[in-house]
Amino acid sequence: MRRGRLDKAVRSAYVRRMAIRPILEAPDPRLRTISTRVEAIDDDLQTLIDDMFDTMYDAPGIGLAAIQVGVPKRVLVIDLQEPESDEEGAPPVKNPMVFINPEILKGSDDLSVYNEGCLSVPDQFAEVERPSVIRASWMDREGRIHEEQLDGLLATCLQHEMDHLEGILFIDHLSRLKRDMLMKKLNKARRAA
Ligand code: NI
Repeated sequence: MRRGRLDKAVRSAYVRRMAIRPILEAPDPRLRTISTRVEAIDDDLQTLIDDMFDTMYDAPGIGLAAIQVGVPKRVLVIDLQEPESDEEGAPPVKNPMVFINPEILKGSDDLSVYNEGCLSVPDQFAEVERPSVIRASWMDREGRIHEEQLDGLLATCLQHEMDHLEGILFIDHLSRLKRDMLMKKLNKARRAA
């Protein structure tokens, strides 16, 4: 066997490997899959996580579940990309977080409302109510176990992404009427595009 030679373009793409995977969109039935636990932190998983970040930043979004790129595994990436200071116009700072096999141990009775959107339901937003404070556990990409109390947008975002692991979309939290309206708008926008 001969060792193939890479031409320059291929070689540089190889070094600066950036892989944006297609995002599944509602009503794709694959989004209804219940994802399975990750049993091994191996190279395939690290590649999946890297690709998920590339895909999420490109979209752009602040959270992505593996099933949204068609992989039914309990893996989420989140980066709220909040400005470092309260100063207006301050550039967002990257803070990539990986959640493997996440669990919610406790949710507060106190609820908060956030106008949610989802990369799998493009350009549609609706208010969803969720516990405002949660206690969660998860594993990071190095296999370290975390258990923390989370609040604010991170708590909301983690709950939204964890819903994806059960095949649930944020629109499922809406009334049937609201959900139908939103899907109609989505289909109309698609036809117009
Ligand atoms: Ni989503």
